[in-house]
Amino acid sequence: MNSNSRNSNYILEVIDVRKRFGGIIALDGVNLKVKRGSMTALIGPNGSGKTTLFNVIAGVYKPDSGKVIFDGTDITGWPPEKIYHRGLVRTFQVPRMFKAMTVFENVLTAAKGNPGERFSTSPLRKIWKAIELKIAEKAVDIMELLKILHVARNLSSAISGGQMKLVELARGLMSDPIMLLLDEPAAGVNPTLAHEIFGFLRNLNKEQGISMLIIEHRLDILFDYVDYVYVMHRGKVVAEGTPKEIVENPVVVDIYLGEA
Ligand SMILES: Nc1ncnc2c1ncn2[C@@H]1O[C@H](COP(=O)(O)OP(=O)(O)O)[C@@H](O)[C@H]1O
Ligand SMILES: [Mg+2]
Repeated sequence: MNSNSRNSNYILEVIDVRKRFGGIIALDGVNLKVKRGSMTALIGPNGSGKTTLFNVIAGVYKPDSGKVIFDGTDITGWPPEKIYHRGLVRTFQVPRMFKAMTVFENVLTAAKGNPGERFSTSPLRKIWKAIELKIAEKAVDIMELLKILHVARNLSSAISGGQMKLVELARGLMSDPIMLLLDEPAAGVNPTLAHEIFGFLRNLNKEQGISMLIIEHRLDILFDYVDYVYVMHRGKVVAEGTPKEIVENPVVVDIYLGEA
């Protein structure tokens, strides 16, 4: 590891990343940087490559070429678990959870260092009990903040789509991330709750310094909260700037009018 890059202003650097699926060029040389401690947005029309970029950053897909640098380390091609344990945690556009478990169990199992069953008979049992209690308290706090505590005992298959998104977010927060990649964290929830979720994320970002890269479609909501915005179109970053600059950028206006 290079100690200079570790101290870099940027927590994440994507350098000329390319990815194709057969004849489809999903990522056509993407470059972007996320400032350490910032809340940065990734926007763009459907099919522009946003989710594919998240999958490459999180190790789900290997890029055909290019690099991903996280917190000073080249993580290109690392398996997803290793990237997750390094502190780069993503949530999915379509929530993934254990359907046969309750919401509470789903949130609990996302905790890092969860000792699980194998320790329950060991001499360390008392210590693990204390750790488990701490984990449970943290899970309750997070569920309360995200307003899903009242469904904690429900099966995760028996809650609304919006609530599933919140469980997904709660699972991400349980893992003590250095950086979160959030794929439409407020999709399927009403505007009031969407503002609450973004307000909550912003507090977390400010108080705990967790860096975030967020894909979101509802720009009117998003732009109240983020520091910086990247715009993708047809597998490329075509614009970047503060929310104010992006709103006034004719290239961006064209892309979105072209979609309408
Ligand atoms: N696993 C895959 N196999 C084939 N094509 C894919 C796959 N994933 C994404 N694509 C294609 O890559 C392009 C970008 O998709 P995606 O990254 O999901 O866009 P976005 O998230 O911006 O809507 C689209 O043309 C999509 O159909
Ligand atoms: Mg997507």
